[in-house]
Amino acid sequence: MKPRAISDRVLAGGAIDWDRRLFDSLIPLPDGTSYNAYLVQGSEKSALLDTVDPTKRDELMSQLAGIERIDFVISHHAEQDHSGAIPDVLAKYPQAKVVASTKAKGMLLDLLEGISEDRVITVEDGEELSLGDKTLRFVYMPWVHWPETMITYLLQDRILFTCDLFGSHLATSDLYADEARVYEPAKRYYAEIMMPFRRAIARHLERVRQIAPAVIAPSHGPVYRRPAFIIDAYDEWVSAPPRNRVIVPYITMHGSTARMVEHFVGALMERGVEVEQFNLASADIGKLAVSLVDAATIAVGTPTVLGGPHPTVLAAAQLAAVLNPKLRFAAVFGSYGWGGKAAEQVAAIVERADIEILAPVLCKGIPREADFVALESLAETIAVKHREQGFA
Ligand code: FEO
Repeated sequence: MKPRAISDRVLAGGAIDWDRRLFDSLIPLPDGTSYNAYLVQGSEKSALLDTVDPTKRDELMSQLAGIERIDFVISHHAEQDHSGAIPDVLAKYPQAKVVASTKAKGMLLDLLEGISEDRVITVEDGEELSLGDKTLRFVYMPWVHWPETMITYLLQDRILFTCDLFGSHLATSDLYADEARVYEPAKRYYAEIMMPFRRAIARHLERVRQIAPAVIAPSHGPVYRRPAFIIDAYDEWVSAPPRNRVIVPYITMHGSTARMVEHFVGALMERGVEVEQFNLASADIGKLAVSLVDAATIAVGTPTVLGGPHPTVLAAAQLAAVLNPKLRFAAVFGSYGWGGKAAEQVAAIVERADIEILAPVLCKGIPREADFVALESLAETIAVKHREQGFA
């Protein structure tokens, strides 16, 4: 891929990773991803903003083959998918310095090989760096999604380079966002990466609005020519009240819990509640994460295994808890053979000060009439609570 201009002497390069299917050995990437690096050439100095994942270093270096001078490598974020090729760039340009936040410096030295302390200079929040006729202003954005993160505003061109913030795991030949196409990958990215820090992000969104950029250029996915599209979407994901929606992740071993799911989901639908159910034996956990962005309630279905919840359910409950969605209610239901603590253990994982844990519905063996009535009662409780809270 050849770098493409997004403004006068501002080039978008890096690498499109069409084939990557897993991030952090955890997050599914159904649409691949990209690692965007931007070159800003001022009248006196040049800066490279972020690099690429180490697996794509050759692609970045071939893009830089005809670039004689780079004075600064701006490292917004120390994670290796953006910092991984910094040592290669420093080796090619012996005069170049890495520019990072004070917290990022130590992290870069910890995480990368072939980078010495004297090659890294630090900048403070709001500090500016002149490239001649172009000026970079650095804005600290801690906890999107690491503590050291900063973003860069190119004053003359009004381009805000936001690294992970506003990114999407989307491999596409589109330089600029097709808004209908990017919405879901961007929401998935938010859910998986940013949602745990949504309170910090709510504050940062205010600063981004004050900056009023003309263009937002993230380091994953396409560039936004209409910043309001992604800023407004983030506002809704971060701050809007949850919807009248229940997420039902479950596992079934011999069909009893599945029968409970079927009845419970039907009872919710009859009461006008939106539902998304996920059989965790085959579910895409990224889709589960996206569904949690707007949901008011999670209702977890689990059989009892060795006295506790099914281990796959435990892992999903743990994920739902650390993603920190806007959930207000949680419930557990399922079938057991002779006893156990499945409901208590799941509830303990998802418990949070602002989440009400509803009474569980557990049945012994195959669910029977009384169990279905109990599930209907749970569905009614949820529907009433959603109405009382005004969830649309
Ligand atoms: Fe895309 Fe947190 O790195």
